[in-house]
Amino acid sequence: MSQDSFPIRKVDHIRHYVGNARQSAYYYQHVFGFSITGFNGLETGLKHEVDYLLEQGDVKLLFSAPIRPDHPMSPAIARHGDFVQDIAFEVDDVDWSFHESVKRGATPAKEPYSIEDKNGSVRVASIHTYGDTLHTFINRDNFKGHFLPHFQEVNMPGDPIGLVQIDHCVGNVELGAMNQWVHWYEDVLGFKQLISFDDKDISTEYTALMSKVMAGGEGRVKFPINEPAEGKKKSQIDEFLEFFGGAGVQHVALLTNDIIHTVSRLQARGLEFLKVPKAYYDALPDRVGTIDEDIKELEALGILVDRDDEGYLLQIFSKPVTDRPTIFYEIINRKGATSFGKGNFKALFEAIEREQEVRGTL
Ligand code: FE2
Repeated sequence: MSQDSFPIRKVDHIRHYVGNARQSAYYYQHVFGFSITGFNGLETGLKHEVDYLLEQGDVKLLFSAPIRPDHPMSPAIARHGDFVQDIAFEVDDVDWSFHESVKRGATPAKEPYSIEDKNGSVRVASIHTYGDTLHTFINRDNFKGHFLPHFQEVNMPGDPIGLVQIDHCVGNVELGAMNQWVHWYEDVLGFKQLISFDDKDISTEYTALMSKVMAGGEGRVKFPINEPAEGKKKSQIDEFLEFFGGAGVQHVALLTNDIIHTVSRLQARGLEFLKVPKAYYDALPDRVGTIDEDIKELEALGILVDRDDEGYLLQIFSKPVTDRPTIFYEIINRKGATSFGKGNFKALFEAIEREQEVRGTL
């Protein structure tokens, strides 16, 4: 008997709703090195929006923008700014996934339906999760085309930087709502809680937050959920909730197998990252022991290191990629470690506080 009460193959794609999908696609192509591989819009018969598909390794990002004022997503974009609207799962059986999740308490967003063209059909359905975020279930076993029917294949290659797959997606929820969403992922999608961090684990002199890491799809899908905690000053989670207008996706972590290469390229192309003080690197050899990388090289790029029982990991966090201090990216390189960099939390949150100070939002 399968242990997994809700089979999920993997995160299929992440959909961002944005104000201008053409320019977002250009940014992700030229900064992150994604290839633009698909388009859907007026030219392909889509009347109300445009969709650009971008790919690198196994990472698929979809950028969608309304092209008419009465588009149903326009109020959400006005409220949140550009945001992650959908974390889509590839599943064996879309109809079962939708009806079972609704039976277990999910709010339905879109009943199962088929999208068809000459290459076959794709089955799709969606449920609501925190904030205005959806989980779409998708199955393309009966489809010979590339992404979805009606998408025009596009050949606009980027210059890839070694991004392999989505490692995890983090949600920020309101004060007191974390456990409700932890139970939602357990009850509805059969996720298990991997780790819990309380405000003693994640606090600085001024701010604190709490986090629980949920995992599903036999461990392939990892969703940490954060909520703010009491502190002397306003935490980064409060700042997010205020500027975003509620709960939403805070960061997406992208996996690389060569973080020095990936981050060098991102910095050369203008992506800005959080920096920690020199003292962090002075203390590093004692804290993490022997690692393959040259610490001087890590320090020059601002890459952080942490060790757990299984190995170590390297990680770095970008500054927000939108005008609002909301969504950012993590680049992560796992060398055996399956954890999330607990040893870096304090240095990292102090770095975020320095940014908040400059923004006047601490
Ligand atoms: Fe992360």
